[in-house]
Amino acid sequence: MDLGLSGRCVVVTGSSRGIGFEIAREFLREGARVTITGRDEARLRAAAAALAPHGSPVALTADFAAGEQEVRRVLASAKERMGGLDIIVANVGSGTGKRGLDADEKEWHRILEENLLSAVLATREAVSLMPGNGGAVVLISSIAGIEALSAPLAYATAKAGIIALGKTLSRELGPRGIRVNVVSPGNVLHPGGSWEKRRAADPGGVDSYIKAEVPLGRFGTPLDIASAVVFLASDKVAGFVTGTNLVVDGGQTRGI
Ligand SMILES: NC(=O)c1ccc[n+]([C@@H]2O[C@H](COP(=O)([O-])OP(=O)(O)OC[C@H]3O[C@@H](n4cnc5c(N)ncnc54)[C@H](OP(=O)(O)O)[C@@H]3O)[C@@H](O)[C@H]2O)c1
Repeated sequence: MDLGLSGRCVVVTGSSRGIGFEIAREFLREGARVTITGRDEARLRAAAAALAPHGSPVALTADFAAGEQEVRRVLASAKERMGGLDIIVANVGSGTGKRGLDADEKEWHRILEENLLSAVLATREAVSLMPGNGGAVVLISSIAGIEALSAPLAYATAKAGIIALGKTLSRELGPRGIRVNVVSPGNVLHPGGSWEKRRAADPGGVDSYIKAEVPLGRFGTPLDIASAVVFLASDKVAGFVTGTNLVVDGGQTRGI
């Protein structure tokens, strides 16, 4: 199905591997112009080469948790290289950290900067570069921001903040024709990701956890998440969808 994304200019933050990489690939498959980003230059270059069969992404080394000047530099450069900026996917995030109240103040700052402030700054700068009318923002949260799971407390708090950011911003940006939505993934397995490490350490325990907790009985894939993102980014199929949080978790969360 043609999502009408051909020629649209998209930045995906944190896209040299995992979920962000797959999101970038889906946009390229739809004919969009895409900028991928990551901190590690070699990994970013390898990602751009792996994406080449689907199109030629712009690849920019960037740290979205390094403050507004860095974010402004990267998004301005992305817009210039692509010839526009219509869609931002704020995907940077990391669930590593101490559980409960064990994290100290420094760690709280790090986790909030990586998972919440990075999305706030990327969204703010991207929106300022979007055309006068139209555009889409997709924020990546987590089911840890919705329910009490065993995730680090600061991560869960930051991801809950992402959902509030999406909801509130959708009201403010609606009159400009900019839609803002959130995707909340469940447990997603991919090479180099956190679940791969946990599974290598305890394959039996992790597999029984998934069977017991996820009604569909499996991990999510990056493509499960990327499919939801391109849907929400498309004015053609989701043009009346804004302010929503699309949970993609195989049925794991129990609330409404
Ligand atoms: N995997 C899951 O089960 C799961 C579940 C729920 C939600 N999520 C959320 O989904 C998103 C992606 O998860 P993932 O599993 O794909 O993560 P990942 O495997 O850790 O990949 C993160 C990507 O972002 C880049 N990155 C990290 N920090 C960055 C920064 N400060 N600035 C720029 N790039 C940065 C990484 O490259 P560099 O390290 O080279 O910068 C990498 O390309 C995150 O927001 C995560 O919280 C994941």
